Amino acid sequence: MKQNPAPHTGSSPSRREFLKTTGQVAAATTLVAAAARPVHAGEDNTLRVALVGCGGRGSGAALDALSVPGSPIKLVALADVFQRRVQNSYQNLSQAKPDQVDVPEERRFLGFDAYQKAMDVLRPGDVVILATPPAFRWVHFAYALDKGLHVFMEKPVTVDGPSTRRFLELVDRSEKTNLKVGVGLMCRHCEARGQLAERIQDGQIGDITTLRAYRVTGPVVQEFTKRKPQGKSELLYQIERFHAFLWASGGLFSDFMIHNIDECCWMKNAWPVEAKAMGGRHYRGDYVDQNFDVYAVEYTFDDGTKLMLNGRIMSGCDNEFASYAHGTKGSAIISSAAHTPARSRIFKGHKFKTSEETWRFEGREPNPYQLEWNHLIDAIRNDQPYNEARRGAEASLVTAMGRMAAHTGRVITREQMLEHEHEFAPDVDQLTMDSAAPLQADAEGAYPLPLPGLVTEREY
Ligand SMILES: NC(=O)c1ccc[n+]([C@@H]2O[C@H](COP(=O)([O-])OP(=O)(O)OC[C@H]3O[C@@H](n4cnc5c(N)ncnc54)[C@H](O)[C@@H]3O)[C@@H](O)[C@H]2O)c1
Repeated sequence: MKQNPAPHTGSSPSRREFLKTTGQVAAATTLVAAAARPVHAGEDNTLRVALVGCGGRGSGAALDALSVPGSPIKLVALADVFQRRVQNSYQNLSQAKPDQVDVPEERRFLGFDAYQKAMDVLRPGDVVILATPPAFRWVHFAYALDKGLHVFMEKPVTVDGPSTRRFLELVDRSEKTNLKVGVGLMCRHCEARGQLAERIQDGQIGDITTLRAYRVTGPVVQEFTKRKPQGKSELLYQIERFHAFLWASGGLFSDFMIHNIDECCWMKNAWPVEAKAMGGRHYRGDYVDQNFDVYAVEYTFDDGTKLMLNGRIMSGCDNEFASYAHGTKGSAIISSAAHTPARSRIFKGHKFKTSEETWRFEGREPNPYQLEWNHLIDAIRNDQPYNEARRGAEASLVTAMGRMAAHTGRVITREQMLEHEHEFAPDVDQLTMDSAAPLQADAEGAYPLPLPGLVTEREY
């Protein structure tokens, strides 16, 4: 699989001391060198897994981990901020994989420090799944590195400039260890897209001139959110509905659009350097979240090539979840049906006519969520280099660049995004159940909105 080029990481002072670390890096490296666990008969080669963030995706990722063929794997700890999430996840997983779930009550942890307790259960060389909202990713990733753990983390991995800089420092640190890091941009593990990327980079559609991507669907989670009911914790309300709040998730834009952006950048084998964009909200009704319902972004790559991205989250309109590439000699369907099956194809012209088709992926398209786990565990077992963290950070950064361009109404460069000083949730590593939420509602219970053209230096 071809990798994107190494990004410019920029440099930044980090606010905290989480990178005090030459010593820690050396320690983690030694720990992990001792911890590759090939499968041998008669030995305890069981990889132990802890899940941090026991929601829909975290529980799904844990199930995928336990379903990797031919590899003894056990789930041994769960962590979340909501008791019911821990319990539901435990029940569902232990029903699905009764022999592989070994999480007694005392290894089900609750609270903002639960991640530490769950990772403390593991040995160096075990695996932690980080599947909370992305605001917490850098905090949890830093601790996983301290503990010498292999990591699977969900996308996006960062939400703003400061958290991306901090995360990139952790990436540097992880690259000095032998730890394996998977990032949940699972379509990178799709063979159809992989073969297409090779064909495009071999010149089969000529030079790419334009990429187009569409994620236009109805609402899928709680991206549009009403006022908090009286008596609920503001912090937990925002965490529960993280797609509604930019500090927690980067909003629906970062959460949803990152997949299309990433697959287009894969085809181009580069990351865009600039974005101009527009967006707005047609129907606000009683909703008080920070999201727009439409976004249109023109991304520009260093060589001038454009990626045009349309995002719309609105019921009653045409739906499309697909990406396309156009080149000087033809065109390609990168993906045509959300995450899978991609049904990738190449055409002579630009009309996607069957009579002009020159290649299509003919193989089976297995579930990419399972593939990403098969590949990660294979790399751990066979001690192969495997670290997707930098790519995850880069994808998160350029996604945020498009979002900020729409929210401010200004052209935003990659460097501006990376160096930006607005940190949405500066004390996310200090949160406790009693903390104030990083975002405050106004007297009417509504949250600050992006105001393009009026508020241009920050997103809200
Ligand atoms: N790759 C994909 O296609 C895909 C699909 C869905 C979700 N995701 C990603 O997975 C992540 C989780 O999404 P989800 O849909 O599972 O959301 P979710 O709300 O179902 O799960 C998140 C869980 O994390 C818990 N949590 C929040 N803050 C925490 C903290 N500080 N410590 C411990 N637990 C905490 C929540 O209580 C919740 O149970 C997001 O980053 C999302 O973008 C990726």
